[in-house]
Amino acid sequence: MAKEKRNIKILRYNPKTDKKPHWKSYNLELDSELTILDVLNEIHWKIDGSLAYRRSCRSAICGSCAMKINGQNLLACETPMHKFKGTIKIEPLPGFPILKDLVVDMDGFFKKIERVKPYLILDKPTPIKEFIQTPEEFDNIREAATCILCGACTSSCPSLWANEDYLGPAALLKSYRFIFDTRDDGSVDRIDIVNDKNGIWRCHTIFNCMEACPKNIKITEYLSKLKVKVLENTI
Ligand code: FES
Repeated sequence: MAKEKRNIKILRYNPKTDKKPHWKSYNLELDSELTILDVLNEIHWKIDGSLAYRRSCRSAICGSCAMKINGQNLLACETPMHKFKGTIKIEPLPGFPILKDLVVDMDGFFKKIERVKPYLILDKPTPIKEFIQTPEEFDNIREAATCILCGACTSSCPSLWANEDYLGPAALLKSYRFIFDTRDDGSVDRIDIVNDKNGIWRCHTIFNCMEACPKNIKITEYLSKLKVKVLENTI
């Protein structure tokens, strides 16, 4: 693999020793085929073991390595270094409190996911074997169900920057996934939750969430369908 010299700038922050986040620069000779996660590993393993960041699957599945790279919310493990020219600037996901370096506090994010009851609610007895849907029924939720809860969409949403109590695109997408699931009986409850003053009506169709989603989920489109569903069921 060809080597190239790259300047990597990382926004560092240790709440125990730093008053505020600051940029730290690393000059490295790196294989051009590395991903951004590989670059962080190089720095962590060979230069500065105190660098904090999250990662697990390395396969764009677990959602833990979302961060802001040269101004875009991306998954570090699926972003090749050669996507960028010159200096690469790496920051934690915006809009979330920083715990340390690139690690942000996702508690509020997951509490919002919990609020929309992200599981099937059944009035009928649970089937003993498979709980079957037709392929056509599943098509309604297929894409929404691929969300990996990385937080990239929610972190990029200006409506959330303006009001941290807003449920945000990931939680609303999760509610869509269950409200449009033909097996679910919990829609009345969920529609009530998303029809709240901090719910679906704070989505102003800005499309940042769709641009940020590493799974290319058409989030804004689904949230628009959710608005129609809420209206149909409340007026
Ligand atoms: Fe799991 Fe990147 S490490 S999505």
